[in-house]
Amino acid sequence: MFGNNHLITVFDFGSKNSKMIQAHMKDKTVHVENYEILPTPEDAVKDGKIADANKMGNVIANFLKKAKTKDGRLLLASSEVVLRTFDLPKMEHGELKEAIKYEMSVLLPERVENYVVDCSIIDEYDKIDEEGKEVKMYQLQGVAVSKKLVNDYLDIFSKHNLKVAIVDVQPNAEIKLFTGPGAYVPLDIDNGAKAENLAIIDFGHQKTSVTILEDKKLFLHRTLHQGGRDITNIISEALDLPWDEAESWKHNNDFAFLQKNAMNEVESILYDEITKVFHDITMEINQVIEFFISMSKRKKLDQIYLLGGGSLIPGISEYIQRYINIPTEVVSTLNNVNIKGLKDPTHIAFLADCVGGVIRRV
Ligand SMILES: Nc1ncnc2c1ncn2[C@@H]1O[C@H](COP(=O)(O)OP(=O)(O)OP(=O)(O)O)[C@@H](O)[C@H]1O
Ligand SMILES: [Mg+2]
Repeated sequence: MFGNNHLITVFDFGSKNSKMIQAHMKDKTVHVENYEILPTPEDAVKDGKIADANKMGNVIANFLKKAKTKDGRLLLASSEVVLRTFDLPKMEHGELKEAIKYEMSVLLPERVENYVVDCSIIDEYDKIDEEGKEVKMYQLQGVAVSKKLVNDYLDIFSKHNLKVAIVDVQPNAEIKLFTGPGAYVPLDIDNGAKAENLAIIDFGHQKTSVTILEDKKLFLHRTLHQGGRDITNIISEALDLPWDEAESWKHNNDFAFLQKNAMNEVESILYDEITKVFHDITMEINQVIEFFISMSKRKKLDQIYLLGGGSLIPGISEYIQRYINIPTEVVSTLNNVNIKGLKDPTHIAFLADCVGGVIRRV
């Protein structure tokens, strides 16, 4: 009945900001009709999980004042979201479900019964087995999320008469954004080639997630427990500022002193402390990337893309590029995405995941 014009509402609850977009897809283009970025109350979301249901209930109520909807897609981002790809011989649907459960169970810290497990076929191919016989194979992407994590959200949604139409995970949304039909993020690299092995880094407040694609398919997803909050903490300590003032100092400073040769004493302390945090985060990202490169077929990562609020820190992409020695850029524009009433171009960094959540899998 709604065809291509059906309005989809996507929610992404971070520890610092809660995001909501309402959009529809027409052909390859995403039309965002409405969006909101609201501050998440302190300690209400931790590692993508609801830590304070009452506070988050208020956030949802505020969203619903600005947007009429009866259902929404929920985008989950947590270190407790487990993703992996694996290969299995082609089999019947029922058998496949059991096999996937088994494959995922070996990665989970708790019994598989405590998780919602889902899977999609990302490729089909033929393989010659040891006896020289041709075997039809599936390449699959499995995802597992703890039932408690999901149910905590479902409870709050239902208290506000909101149905969760689809539960998706952030890395999945990012994969759709980077590989979807609209070339939303230009993947051009040198010599007219396109990036096929790429790292998507979502630099959040408490966490930074690294999603690596090989041949534009998921290779690995990791959550690192560092983010923009660590930089605010350093600024607050080094400049002896209350936390909120340090946070706005971070938003309004151009970080130009990081490039300066001559610094005053305070700048020099800040420089040392901030580069220490940049260094720690970048080192962890680098470890994940080095692992990928050693395991990948081409032994190469083409490009790193940054998004999330933390990507707005001036100089962060240059720092990562210099350290890891791989071209790095911030996702600051999106092709074939029209955002009605975009209040500030920096909002793209916050909304990119939600936009990916609207896109249909190709
Ligand atoms: N202009 C800016 N300059 C520097 N940092 C910024 C800017 N705007 C936002 N940030 C930082 O971005 C982070 C918030 O980004 P984002 O909304 O992506 O995080 P989140 O999704 O709430 O966090 P998480 O995913 O870790 O739970 C905060 O640390 C904030 O200080
Ligand atoms: Mg986030």
